[in-house]
Amino acid sequence: SRYAAFRRNHVTLDPSLDISSELPHLRQQQSRITMADSSSSAQQAESHYFTHEPPPKDLKTNTTLAREFIGRHVDEGRRVVLVTSGGTTVPLEQQTVRYIDNFSAGTRGATSAEYFLDNGYAVIFLHRQFSLLPFSRHYSHNTRSFLDYMKEENGQVVVDEQHQEEMLRVLRQYTEVKREGKLLILSYVSITEYLWNLREVAQLMRPLGPKAMFYLAAAVSDFFVPQDRMVEHKIQSNEEFLQGPDGASGASNVKPAARTEGRSLVIDLEPVPKFLKQLVDGWAPQAMIVSFKLETDPSLLVRKAQYSLDKYSHHLVIGNLLLTRKWEVVFVSALDGEKWIRVPRSRRTKSFSGMPSLVGSADQLAKEQASEAEQS
Ligand code: PMT
Repeated sequence: SRYAAFRRNHVTLDPSLDISSELPHLRQQQSRITMADSSSSAQQAESHYFTHEPPPKDLKTNTTLAREFIGRHVDEGRRVVLVTSGGTTVPLEQQTVRYIDNFSAGTRGATSAEYFLDNGYAVIFLHRQFSLLPFSRHYSHNTRSFLDYMKEENGQVVVDEQHQEEMLRVLRQYTEVKREGKLLILSYVSITEYLWNLREVAQLMRPLGPKAMFYLAAAVSDFFVPQDRMVEHKIQSNEEFLQGPDGASGASNVKPAARTEGRSLVIDLEPVPKFLKQLVDGWAPQAMIVSFKLETDPSLLVRKAQYSLDKYSHHLVIGNLLLTRKWEVVFVSALDGEKWIRVPRSRRTKSFSGMPSLVGSADQLAKEQASEAEQS
């Protein structure tokens, strides 16, 4: 309506007016109005979401820990990064038996957290419960059991010789980080738990100003089941046991978003508001914000990363494709445009999980990347 009023005042009142010289100014005004409108609709979506979706039980504990952690690092003048990592679930029932999940093992987040720590950052690691963690990721979630790294010697458990050097390196880094209190680990499971934690921690990080960074590697669901459309009990597959109106296992008159109809399971999800907008404009306006874009179709990746950058006006979008995410990513930013970073073929080692992974330092990698680029 503000745009309509603007048009009425500036254009339509005098149709004979030659407005060509005014066009750039009008476009600027129009884009400002559009941005203001989208900001206020993002605010409304935020307020609706957080009014209707209850906070997780451990939110208070998490915010207390985060407040203490951030306060300490503000005093020490250190940069703080919030790394989000892992998938977000969409529960279909309040007492959740079934849920939809978003793909992510947590490798990107856990690995990046180690690099941030190595570069002097304090790290808040907000991750999906039981996904990979910094440091322990080297020894978990692969086809080996951690016991395979051990052996018995004179009645004692010791690390096998072949793993001594690598484990000592990781252990030293981990011990140092713990001693300095530079890593805070928080967890979530569902999309709603993720968003509550993200919002609270972002607001606590505001006093850091430009010393705050957000590195959003978690795989965030675009769709969810709102609380007021979620059945309480396990969805029944047998019609004889259907409860409540329309098969809802509760007293609600609202049609449940996930329900059985005949012999089919019908799931009717609603969109999760895009919280990146609120993060950039409202929760952490001075922070550096890095988001990720995951696609499976190579022809869409850069376009969608660019679209996200244009829409949210943050600093950097890191694009990756599901099948090649372990060895190539594209950085899309207003400053540098499109820039690919690839792990040279010679360094795409097989990790125990069977996926290639990066080994060695970032400096070494940069040199090898340059030489591979020259050769090709
Ligand atoms: O953990 P790994 O197995 O190593 O895999 C890493 C990864 C592939 C998951 C990671 O590199 C990655 O790409 N993470 C982002 C996945 C994702 O959510 O992409 P998207 O295209 O759906 O969302 C893009 C951005 O929008 C995200 O930064 C997200 O924070 C934001 N978003 C998404 C949904 C939503 N409702 N609100 C948002 O703000």
